[in-house]
Amino acid sequence: MSRFAEPQDAAFRRLNDSIGFDWRLSPYDVDQSIAHAAMLAAQGIISEADGAELRRGLEQVRQELTDGTFPFADGDEDIHMAIERRVTEIVGRVGGRLHTARSRNDQVATDVAMFVRAHAHEALERLGRLGRTLVELAERHLDWPIPGYTHMQRAQPIYLSHHLLAYFWMVLRDMRRFEAVVAATGRLPLGAGALAGVNFDTDRRAVASALGFAGVAENSVDAVSNRDFVLDYLAAAATCATHLSRLGGEIVLWSTEEYGFCEVSDAWASGSSIMPQKKNPDAAELLRAKAPRLVSNLVALHGVMHGLPLTYNKDMQEDKEPLFDSADTLELCLDAAAGMLETITFTRERLAAAASDQFLAATDIADLLVRRGVPFREAHGVVAGLVRQALEAGKLLSDLTPEELTAQSPALDAEFYRLLQDGAWLETKVSEGGTSLARVREQLERARAALR
Ligand code: ARG
Repeated sequence: MSRFAEPQDAAFRRLNDSIGFDWRLSPYDVDQSIAHAAMLAAQGIISEADGAELRRGLEQVRQELTDGTFPFADGDEDIHMAIERRVTEIVGRVGGRLHTARSRNDQVATDVAMFVRAHAHEALERLGRLGRTLVELAERHLDWPIPGYTHMQRAQPIYLSHHLLAYFWMVLRDMRRFEAVVAATGRLPLGAGALAGVNFDTDRRAVASALGFAGVAENSVDAVSNRDFVLDYLAAAATCATHLSRLGGEIVLWSTEEYGFCEVSDAWASGSSIMPQKKNPDAAELLRAKAPRLVSNLVALHGVMHGLPLTYNKDMQEDKEPLFDSADTLELCLDAAAGMLETITFTRERLAAAASDQFLAATDIADLLVRRGVPFREAHGVVAGLVRQALEAGKLLSDLTPEELTAQSPALDAEFYRLLQDGAWLETKVSEGGTSLARVREQLERARAALR
């Protein structure tokens, strides 16, 4: 019997069915059902024989799903119903016992938590590779001066290693975020039933430990309403993608003829269909472009959950496509970022030429005056005057005569010229976390330790 006298409208089914995407939850759904059936048998809620039959059916389903022979049927609304239907085809009437003491509400929350946990681990593994790649690149370019920028204007010179390690620390923070995502999936929803708990003496803790959950959700109402772990995953993925987009954006810029700072390997570039000379850094461009999509997935699920009354609502079926899309896109981008960086080359001369722009020493000259007793604000004005004088005369700062210097400030002595020599302004950045080689070496050591 069915409660319904009429069949579902075809358009309703297209709207309502989730099988088209939630089939991806199938490995988790099978694992979950095996653990659930074992618990039902252990608790005497079903017989041991029925428990064994359910296990046999579920193992066959797992096999069919892996080798691609699982027969999806026209009436399958979602993966949970498809699997239960198939188990019943295999083991007969006993299949109808699988859903004892369970609702699709706690079932789907459990599957999704398991998916999120698995993909947080996928992200962590890939972030580890990217972090190691950045550390290795930094080691290989330890003392290569480059200009550091603010407002995209040359600001102060730094070492390329220091710049690359900035991305390492972003990656490390991303790892911390995904570790927090793993923790957020730590409490088993299963056993909450539809929302109120179930009428059987289940052993939720046994199911939790069988499925790798640290504990059980404390409240059945919260258990079936909670999608925080999806939001947490989407947020971590969005932040990570935003980091990758800055890396991508920078590589695009640095690969231009105008900068000429780096070149991606042929394996990570494409040509033009019309301009034979072109080598385009497409991978970097796509890293730049993918981030807003991950942000929109986060925003989409916040929109779904916003103002949603407890407990389960069908709205929550909309958690899946954003989640799957973010996981796929992020994993692809992390692989691409690591692969591209493993084979990128930097052009030492171009970087050095850009970094030896004497105006990059302006702050250092001001600091020289400060050491001679001039208040910083006054020193800033003095150096601004020198820069202007040099620009107007079309000269380098080092071409200014001692007389011209003392005219601006009597505190400007021969030290001024020494300061303008190559590398002098990098090695004076001795503050903790600064760009001097000793500090970068310390930083590298900490980065390596963080990876271990
Ligand atoms: N396909 C559903 C989803 O993804 C499964 C849960 C259905 N629950 C229900 N009460 N209709 O959310």
